[in-house]
Amino acid sequence: MAKVNVKVCLGTTCFVMGSANLQELIELVPRKYGDLVDVAGSPCLGLCSIDWEFSKAPYVKVDDEVIKEATVEKVLAAIDKKLGK
Ligand code: FES
Repeated sequence: MAKVNVKVCLGTTCFVMGSANLQELIELVPRKYGDLVDVAGSPCLGLCSIDWEFSKAPYVKVDDEVIKEATVEKVLAAIDKKLGK
């Protein structure tokens, strides 16, 4: 089975908008899912500049799915969905 790939944006906009809180995912996800999921911090994903005025930062990508205004709960829910849980 292909791994789910999670990228937590740590670019400036997302960081200011709260991705600092999402950094716990980087420890939490491997503990919860082990080898099934790869998680990493990422420089600006290029999403914040598309719609700056209505920015929905912080952004996290779960495979190709963009999670706006990401929270730990939203990201875990998206991972569970990918894994069919
Ligand atoms: S800083 Fe996160 S998408 Fe640009």
